[in-house]
Amino acid sequence: MNFEFSEEQIMIQQSARDYAQRELIKDVLDRDAKAEFPTHHVKALAELGFLGMLVDVKYDGGGMDTISYVLAMEEISKIDSSVSVIMSVNNSLVCYGIEAFGTEEQKEKWLKPLARGEKIGAFLLSEPEAGSDATSQRTTAIDKGDHYLVNGVKNWITSGNSASTYVLIAQTHAEKGHKGINAFIVDRHSPGITLGPHEDKMGMRSSDTHSVMFTDVVVPKENRLGEDGFGFKFAMKTLEGGRIGIAAQALGIAQGAYERALQYSKERKTFGTEIINHQAIAFKLAEMHTRIEAARFFCLKSAWLKDQGKPYGTASAMAKYWAAETAMYVTTEAVQIHGGYGYVKEYHVERLMREAKLTQIYEGTSEIQLMIISRAISNI
Ligand code: CAA
Repeated sequence: MNFEFSEEQIMIQQSARDYAQRELIKDVLDRDAKAEFPTHHVKALAELGFLGMLVDVKYDGGGMDTISYVLAMEEISKIDSSVSVIMSVNNSLVCYGIEAFGTEEQKEKWLKPLARGEKIGAFLLSEPEAGSDATSQRTTAIDKGDHYLVNGVKNWITSGNSASTYVLIAQTHAEKGHKGINAFIVDRHSPGITLGPHEDKMGMRSSDTHSVMFTDVVVPKENRLGEDGFGFKFAMKTLEGGRIGIAAQALGIAQGAYERALQYSKERKTFGTEIINHQAIAFKLAEMHTRIEAARFFCLKSAWLKDQGKPYGTASAMAKYWAAETAMYVTTEAVQIHGGYGYVKEYHVERLMREAKLTQIYEGTSEIQLMIISRAISNI
């Protein structure tokens, strides 16, 4: 067992850290207040190669490993998860799905611009009545010979407006249940696609989240990903990797809040000494640090399994579960350590707490992760 990172992994981590600490930090509070999309940061991350970092170089990606991805996601998320969620969805849900299950023509046409970060992607699975219960897809994609005709509504779509490329999950053969579901690549600007308003979210406010309505949208036959009826498995396989990205995001949120709380506790004095010298605070920090280290190990283990080509679905569910719960715990404690200062915007920890909450919800709630883990252990 080797706990050391390679030189390349450290360079990638450093490059993400430099960008986050130097650039993202400058306007993060302002973008959060205005819920403003981080256009120039997305462009800069594309130039750094982070938007398609997991994609093979032959499809214009960065050809980096999943460990490097975890390291980069953590650094960006320490400062701004509105940006890291765009990076995670593009890499893990959109690019991965096309690279793993698409045809050469699909990769040439759709994957390359996504991997270069010239376009960004969105993953359309959730519906008003199909969130956790993802098999209950009501959006239909009816086979019309040379094309599919899509009708329905998708909800909570990250990058719903800013994405140019959608990966859409829809029901083709309702009588077959989940075995009748398909996955498609859809041009976001196709006639018949309309968007709901920008969701006014609690946290990650500057990533754009929308509902997306499909009315008689024509999707060419060649845009289907995988065999007829493969769509549900496609979504599940894709989410296994997506959860590594969100786990790493939660890890970064927790680490960012912890570092701020540690720093504050070394500066702030009460009862004649820095508050870190009070056991009540020191034990909080020790607990936060220990939970974060455990989350880091889960993230790196699931990334390592993926890189080794071994099964990683249960490991990524454990990583996401533990990291998200840790992020919520640590950010809440970080606010508490800051006292009144923690409750105002300029100290950042209240924003990190709002961001942490979303990691317990999207890409499978904490309860869904426990369902996946419990099913895995009952099958051992
Ligand atoms: N890999 C491959 N196949 C899988 C699989 C996996 N990881 N998980 C399930 N399947 C297969 C099963 O084998 C089964 O196939 P067969 O019938 O052929 O055996 C089929 O899928 C159905 O599986 P289940 O019976 O287990 O289905 P279920 O209804 O009990 O639900 C679930 C399973 C794990 C709860 C699933 O519904 C789920 O993951 N729900 C959460 C959905 C989710 O994460 N949504 C996030 C939205 S995306 C998002 O948030 C993106 C964003 O913008 C940030």
